[in-house]
Amino acid sequence: MDEDVLTKNLIKQHTFRTWGKQKNWDPLVIKEGKGAYFYDSKGNKYLDFSSQFINVNLGYGNENVIKAIEKQLETLQYINPSLGVSIRAEASRALLEVMPKNITKFFFSTSGTEANEAAIKIIRLIKRPSFKILSRYRSYHGSTEGSISLTGDYRRWFVEPNIMPGVVRFPEPYCFRCPLKLKYPDCGIACANYVDYIIKQEKHVAGIIVEPITGTNGVIVPPKEYMPLLRKIAMENDVLFIADEVMTGWGRVGEWFAVNLWGVEPDILTTAKGASASYVPIGITGVSKEIGDFFEDNVFAHGHTFEAHPVSLAAIPAVISEYKRVNLLPHVREMGKYLGKRLNELKERHISIGDVRGVGLFWAVELVKDGKNTPFADYNDKYEGKPILLDLLAKKALESGVFVYNGPSWFIIAPPLVVEKEDIDKGVEALDKVIREADNQYRN
Ligand SMILES: Cc1ncc(COP(=O)(O)O)c(C=O)c1O
Repeated sequence: MDEDVLTKNLIKQHTFRTWGKQKNWDPLVIKEGKGAYFYDSKGNKYLDFSSQFINVNLGYGNENVIKAIEKQLETLQYINPSLGVSIRAEASRALLEVMPKNITKFFFSTSGTEANEAAIKIIRLIKRPSFKILSRYRSYHGSTEGSISLTGDYRRWFVEPNIMPGVVRFPEPYCFRCPLKLKYPDCGIACANYVDYIIKQEKHVAGIIVEPITGTNGVIVPPKEYMPLLRKIAMENDVLFIADEVMTGWGRVGEWFAVNLWGVEPDILTTAKGASASYVPIGITGVSKEIGDFFEDNVFAHGHTFEAHPVSLAAIPAVISEYKRVNLLPHVREMGKYLGKRLNELKERHISIGDVRGVGLFWAVELVKDGKNTPFADYNDKYEGKPILLDLLAKKALESGVFVYNGPSWFIIAPPLVVEKEDIDKGVEALDKVIREADNQYRN
């Protein structure tokens, strides 16, 4: 039997595909990667136009990061987290250089969802008896109990009603389809101002969690007033503010972290993905000095065997040093401008493109099927596992050599941050071709 078919069969029969029905799963078997490209076993080359799940920020095969990880593996592959190891100090020192200035203490885990679970516990321990946490409808914070409960999108529906109590949701600044049916700037940022009312009515609110720019739910960039206003409302109500930068951190938006776009300092910053550029699993919960100090005389009631794993930690200073070496932030800003321009040109050409939005190398192209901006599919379709047009278009793009991640009615364009203009052109051309099918289905 062909080696590829054997591999595929073993994967299909003995492992789970996630967030979908198993039946028609047909995974393409990938062999290796270099730069912004990966290759299948037949040598076919694919541009990664979404950094997988917006996490392969440095692209594939970065030798300096690989060497740093190997060095740690050879020196000491594991030591329990109550003991010290120099890589933990090095990782912390490197983080202090790039994190918002007020974030000075870290808990290390192995994923974004764990980073958020730790944040939930921290704010609840500090704010007792307050326990409620506000989050938005269009949000994803992870798949484990606490973070799926914070999640607003359809993925939460699968576990209801068995979810963590105490989550209250508020509307998002999704101006393309404003949940309050208002128009910016006349809206007066009602979606943020309403949060003040919610906090006062709910009482016992411990914290607010937001993705500064909503990620998998369609790259929703808030109006410039939004984040400072929300931060102010949290502060005035003595509620802790968590920025979930699992996706938006690490140069993705042309700043180390998205909160920097608005000069906002969160009380807690959670991150993962780009923190190791996905060379090893990592999750980070960063907190302010005040929060850190609270636990001097209070039990920090949390931990994992693989917490502060030395091999995961080894990636942190290595990727930060690589991000600096490739002059990442200016590069992302320059490439981001170019990508935005190219995607807006696509919008001119395709009647089915309803909206193009983004910042840095983090963009969404949202498709609509009629003049009323009706999406091709929604969360209900995803929940029921229905076949949707965007999945089909993404599959066609992959067949033509470009991987692009999609939601029910949008593509997320977020290539590795080391991408160059020619790569962007290649990705945009592939989108140009597949979106014609959506144009054909468009009705006025
Ligand atoms: C904003 C955000 N938070 C949390 C998570 C969960 O991260 P992980 O998949 O590493 O658990 C994700 C994953 O995409 C995310 O985008």
